Amino acid sequence: MYTQPSKADAKATTDRKPVTVATLARMKQQGEKFAALTAYDASFAALLDHNGVEVILVGDSLGMVIQGHPTTLPVTVDDILYHGRAVARGISRALLMLDMPFMSYATPERALDTAQRFMQEGGAQMVKLEGAGNQREVVEYLAARGIPVCAHLGLRPQSVHKLGGFKVQGKDAETAREMLEDAQTLEAAGADIILLEAVPAALAREITQAVAVPVIGIGAGGDCDGQILVTYDMLDITPGRRPKFVRNFMDGAASPAEAVQRFVRAVKDKSFPGPEHGF
Ligand code: KIV
Repeated sequence: MYTQPSKADAKATTDRKPVTVATLARMKQQGEKFAALTAYDASFAALLDHNGVEVILVGDSLGMVIQGHPTTLPVTVDDILYHGRAVARGISRALLMLDMPFMSYATPERALDTAQRFMQEGGAQMVKLEGAGNQREVVEYLAARGIPVCAHLGLRPQSVHKLGGFKVQGKDAETAREMLEDAQTLEAAGADIILLEAVPAALAREITQAVAVPVIGIGAGGDCDGQILVTYDMLDITPGRRPKFVRNFMDGAASPAEAVQRFVRAVKDKSFPGPEHGF
């Protein structure tokens, strides 16, 4: 059963400064890694928040791990809002990022409507969209209106049918160069964070060094500024074969809280991800 934090918890958590975009930028400058995980409800959000996770994403991965769809495409704005509101109630420190679903940012105006709802109704402090350089206009439009944006490059699950499957991206020289240029274009457009999914470690390192904003990796090697995983994957809840870039942090942990602490520690001391998790 989820219970609101007690007074003692509240004191402990108010002693911890809220994580902001500026916190993450400072961590990048100081070479301190940050930890990010997904959450879809208040109990998981509190678990992550209390155990040192800096960024919590209500990802459209909920379409797969919560709703049981084979892709993220059926997820709607109302789905993300429903889960976002629940997650926001569990957080006292972490930065809350909400994922813009398929087609909810197809035009700058539509993206603004979605982002407005996410921030006003869902408690978002940042929105995430999947995009290559073709999202420059959307990112610019949101950034110009004071909306923090995370741009998701590499494997973009909303484009799974165009990409021909959930495949590593940027493996050849041309697509690698394009991804680097896309990251720079979106940074110039105002993106506050770049997220790289399923990208060769060497390319992720190059992009992380080429942009001033923090880069979060998932299956993108150990040189990104932060690491994110789907919580159900790292707790070994997700059925089926575990993706190569996931470590089972429940292995040897006495509780989910300990597994989350181990993830945070491993990201910060750079023992996760290891070479065996990369491409
Ligand atoms: O939807 C999601 O959970 C994500 C992460 C995999 C980064 O986009």
